[in-house]
Amino acid sequence: MPNAIVIGATSGIGRALAVELARQGYKVGATGRRVERLNQLENEFPDRILTRPMDVRDVAAAPDALRELIVEMHGVDVIVINAGVLFRDADWGGIEAMIDTNVTGFVATAEAAMGYFLDRRSGHLVGISSIAAIRGAKGSPVYNASKAFECTYMDGLRHRIAKTKLPIHVTDIRPGFVDTKMIADRGGLFWVASPEKVARQIIDAIHKKKKRTYITKRWHAIAWLAKTVPDWIYHKW
Ligand SMILES: NC(=O)c1ccc[n+]([C@@H]2O[C@H](COP(=O)([O-])OP(=O)(O)OC[C@H]3O[C@@H](n4cnc5c(N)ncnc54)[C@H](OP(=O)(O)O)[C@@H]3O)[C@@H](O)[C@H]2O)c1
Repeated sequence: MPNAIVIGATSGIGRALAVELARQGYKVGATGRRVERLNQLENEFPDRILTRPMDVRDVAAAPDALRELIVEMHGVDVIVINAGVLFRDADWGGIEAMIDTNVTGFVATAEAAMGYFLDRRSGHLVGISSIAAIRGAKGSPVYNASKAFECTYMDGLRHRIAKTKLPIHVTDIRPGFVDTKMIADRGGLFWVASPEKVARQIIDAIHKKKKRTYITKRWHAIAWLAKTVPDWIYHKW
């Protein structure tokens, strides 16, 4: 069974993914800032889950922490960057936190992961972006832009890797609404999926080595609509 690391595994999608991977027999490295939640995970799966505290915004330390975890696990096949934050109608502090986490932290950990996969000459990077990447939105312009950044950046990584002809894969997961604390304060949402269902579909996308996918599948239609609808209609919404 392969080894996988989930960056941002203390709650929501990341926790469900770490648990499902462990249940399916993977050895899992789980990271995040909340140590008590990491300990909880390790206690639930002592033979399967290894944890390490990590703040992806600390770009001086996070890449080294990732490399140390990889060594501790005797190598990994899959690295999932799930860590992300959303602050709606954010003040400057929230804006900075989104850019530091979703952009700078994402790139810092992805570059370390890709460097490792290139040395090893194989591997699979998975990034959890969002349906929000498709179009800007009034309540969360910075969040949506940060997710668009992640998608375009992963596209570039895939382009870079293509030239090497190595079996290194990059999968961009674009979830719709998922029932986590990130959207807990919002009403009127639709097609809200459980983190467990999303985790199973992420693992399926990993096994199929998909380049990009919407989860759940029906969000492909929303993505198409969001790309197609003209501004004069979109701006009335
Ligand atoms: N929920 C949705 O509807 C939805 C939809 C589309 C995409 N997404 C994306 O899915 C991902 C997971 O979100 P979620 O909904 O599961 O929310 P969540 O429950 O708030 O989980 C976020 C995870 O990211 C980790 N994290 C945040 N900042 C971090 C940092 N600086 N360093 C390390 N880890 C950090 C958190 O761990 P610590 O707090 O312990 O550090 C936590 O494990 C995010 O990238 C989000 O943008 C969510």
